[in-house]
Amino acid sequence: MKGQQGWAELYAFEITHGGTPLFRQIYLQLRSAILTRRLRPGTKLPSTRELASQLGVSRSAAVAAYEQLLAEGYTSGRHGSGTYISSDLPEPIEGSEGRRKKPVPAISSDASPMESVADFVDVTVQSDQRPFNLGRTLVDARTIELWRKLSARSLRSLSPSHFGYSDPRGTTVLRKTICDYLQAARGARCDPEQIVVTTGTQHAIDLVIRVLPGLDKGVWIEDPGYPLTRQALLAAGAKVRPIPVDGQGIEVAKGIKSAPNARAVFVTPSHQFPTGVVLSMARRLELLAWAREKSAWIVEDDYASEFRYGGRPLASLQGLDEGERVIYIGTLNKALFPGLRMGYVVVPRPLLRAFIAARYLMDRQPSTLSQAVVAAFMEEGYFAAHIRRIRLLYREQRDELVAALKNRLGDDLTVNAPDQGMHLVALTRRGLSDVAIERAGRQHGVIVRAMSRLYVAAAPASALVLGFSGYPAQMILPAVERLAQVVQAQSKSPSARQRFASAKRK
Ligand SMILES: Cc1ncc(COP(=O)(O)O)c(C=O)c1O
Repeated sequence: MKGQQGWAELYAFEITHGGTPLFRQIYLQLRSAILTRRLRPGTKLPSTRELASQLGVSRSAAVAAYEQLLAEGYTSGRHGSGTYISSDLPEPIEGSEGRRKKPVPAISSDASPMESVADFVDVTVQSDQRPFNLGRTLVDARTIELWRKLSARSLRSLSPSHFGYSDPRGTTVLRKTICDYLQAARGARCDPEQIVVTTGTQHAIDLVIRVLPGLDKGVWIEDPGYPLTRQALLAAGAKVRPIPVDGQGIEVAKGIKSAPNARAVFVTPSHQFPTGVVLSMARRLELLAWAREKSAWIVEDDYASEFRYGGRPLASLQGLDEGERVIYIGTLNKALFPGLRMGYVVVPRPLLRAFIAARYLMDRQPSTLSQAVVAAFMEEGYFAAHIRRIRLLYREQRDELVAALKNRLGDDLTVNAPDQGMHLVALTRRGLSDVAIERAGRQHGVIVRAMSRLYVAAAPASALVLGFSGYPAQMILPAVERLAQVVQAQSKSPSARQRFASAKRK
């Protein structure tokens, strides 16, 4: 049962203070996760001390919840080794939460546009490892060593099935592991049948675009937003409708006003790119209601959701969706490392056949060898442990960068520590132009991204987007020093201060 130890610790609890007693909330959520097999028999629960500290509740609340589960037979205690989910529970009832089986409606094969992608401009090539380039990941010595071992072991134990053609969605073992992880850690509703392994978010976005009908009639994107989503849509001939983002995420009412009959929306609900805003519950429900009413699709890009540093754990939007309108995209390229090229999609059942066809026509199937290594890494508990270790390091790096920016650039930038993700946003003050700082910074070996260039139609905010993940303190401090010199030179130049208003966006 070693393999499943980590998932329970990553389980996304929704705890509210006031109302239902805390012990009961914990008990009910664990019971529901056990009954629906989001947490599987044999899974080890975190200690009451760990759980209490993770949820910010008293230890007695966690103890009371565990005692109740134990008394009712959902768990068993093994003396000295913790609490485990009982292995003799009956199979979940068909039709109960998380196990709904629905008929698979047919989808006409000519409905999916398969446009060739031309004149593609990659605006986020990440080979530059200088601070504070985005998307740098940290792979520590432990993970590298494990990767070597598991790769060697996987190579030694290859079976004939690894050498032939296999399921375009990926191996059964890996899909089941990903599904267990998503149910426990992201509150997703899925079945291994619905998981399609991809090479990452970009591949998944491309597949979605090929599969969804009618994107030439309108598709909402976030403004500001992830440039590679917009580029991929434009390259495929979609009619892109940028919808502004405010402090609650995408402004659904504005989307409905400007393009009510759009066929899809691409969103980053748990950590809007680039602003870092969390899509509020009211907006999540509005978006789901619109999608249901219009039979439109919501594409949820849940990048970097593994790195949450404080506050309440957030479940995915997909987990809220009862109408199978959300296509969920996740990536291991951020949780592990970009060179891995692996991610996954949870495909709503009505789209599954078309999705598998598109995956097959694109490149048949993912590589069986890398799937074997990733499956072992996840199954045997190393992925959860990697996230726990790296999350601590990223949090330290975030704090280091925030402190250095406040210390050296407090008058010029407004900096808040984000609760999640791998980058932060620092609004410029006193009329300073983010574009001018971006340009001058590059000449001084500091990579910052001007947020105003990520806007399409909405009024741009001038801010610097800085990646903090993977930059140790000894890199952060001198780079902030160089950035401070750049910013101070800009603030002395009156022309630079005027530049923001007229800065060329692209
Ligand atoms: C919004 C967003 N989604 C997804 C990704 C990850 O993409 P991929 O899995 O293709 O490496 C990134 C990486 O920077 C991102 O910023």
